[in-house]
Amino acid sequence: MAGEWNFTSGKWNEDSTDKGIQTTKDHRFYAISAEFPEFSNKDKTLVFQFSVKHERKLDCGGGHMKLLSGDIDQKKFGGDIP
Ligand SMILES: *[C@@H]1O[C@H](CO)[C@@H](O)[C@H](O)[C@H]1NC(C)=O
Repeated sequence: MAGEWNFTSGKWNEDSTDKGIQTTKDHRFYAISAEFPEFSNKDKTLVFQFSVKHERKLDCGGGHMKLLSGDIDQKKFGGDIP
């Protein structure tokens, strides 16, 4: 059920080297994860964000991010991971 991502600047952009990941097919679920080194935001605000560009009209869609502890199996990452 998982769709494949396309790493592209998209159909329209200000800078063709400014790329992001794009879904490739309608009616699919997409998931991706990345591991990053341990860090601390002690006494500082943690900002965790993403931006979305819609090139086509959406009938139905949504997106969310999950910030997880380091003990998950990335190969099993998906909608069921809390
Ligand atoms: C990936 O993006 C490029 C640029 O928009 C596009 O030409 C190509 O068809 C896309 N590939 C897929 C599999 O969607």
